[in-house]
Amino acid sequence: MTRHFLRDDDLSPSEQREVLDLAVTLKTSPYSRRPLAGPQTAAVIFDKTSTRTRVSFAVGIADLGGHPLIIDSQGSQLAGKESVADTARVLERMVSAVIWRTFSQAGLEEMAEGTTVPVINALSDDFHPCQILADLLTIREHKGELAGLTLTYMGDAANNMAHSYLLGCITAGMNVRIAGPDGYLPRPEYVADALALADRQGVDVWLGSDPTEAVQGADVVVTDTWVSMGQEDEKAERQSIFIDYQVNEELMAQAAEGALFLHCLPAYRGYEVTTGVIDGPQSVVWDEAENRLHAQKALLVWLLEHA
Ligand code: CP
Ligand code: NVA
Repeated sequence: MTRHFLRDDDLSPSEQREVLDLAVTLKTSPYSRRPLAGPQTAAVIFDKTSTRTRVSFAVGIADLGGHPLIIDSQGSQLAGKESVADTARVLERMVSAVIWRTFSQAGLEEMAEGTTVPVINALSDDFHPCQILADLLTIREHKGELAGLTLTYMGDAANNMAHSYLLGCITAGMNVRIAGPDGYLPRPEYVADALALADRQGVDVWLGSDPTEAVQGADVVVTDTWVSMGQEDEKAERQSIFIDYQVNEELMAQAAEGALFLHCLPAYRGYEVTTGVIDGPQSVVWDEAENRLHAQKALLVWLLEHA
């Protein structure tokens, strides 16, 4: 049966570990796996803007011997004209994988149900699972083992990154704390999934509104923009809602000694993070950005092998 990667818990703990191990191999030997040689084509579709995801998938698919077909959906029939189901049936006749950055998680599920090739979520309103694989690879490189570490996410805790940290880091055996203002905490259905997974994994989950409590002794501190794509009209309001959750030097001082700072980027210095933190010694954001490439190549190899 075709495997897809639409949300972080689509990989089991052991499968996630296999992907991360493969990413390490591909980082040192970039051209050692060529499952797309031919070249076969992989479609990468964007309903929203992107720098890292666009470049890392384009380079990664080429490294795997394939041809990346980058589609801006506004220039395609997908933009409100043709159904997702019909698009899925057309794409599977010509491409070996579909990678899609879109709004609706339900749309991604429809694409996956309608096609025989692997579908990868390249960011939806609900999840950004490729980013978490890159983050886990980065944390592993800097801290060794993932299991047992505590990660604190700070800020807009109702967004795609918060949901993905919750599910992806629990899958990796990490304790997860998510801090955001009341009304901006993770969606209840994803919290329920996370708590069930945490129970199986034997890890702790903390959700709350107190940023100081959330960050005490954390091994990894992460944040994300307060204004996600599609929320631009709420920018001024959001900048005041999340102000107490800024990751600054004072907050980082309460994390564990040697704690890492990660941010998926793009970052807005002076809002969710200060310049001193993101450009400071604890920040690993450039390693994190590079690791998008290695983690996604590993994911593609794994999915194609399990198709
Ligand atoms: N982090 C991330 O997904 O970046 P882009 O929006 O530039 O792809
Ligand atoms: N939460 C952000 C992530 C950007 C990579 C957004 O959806 O815009």
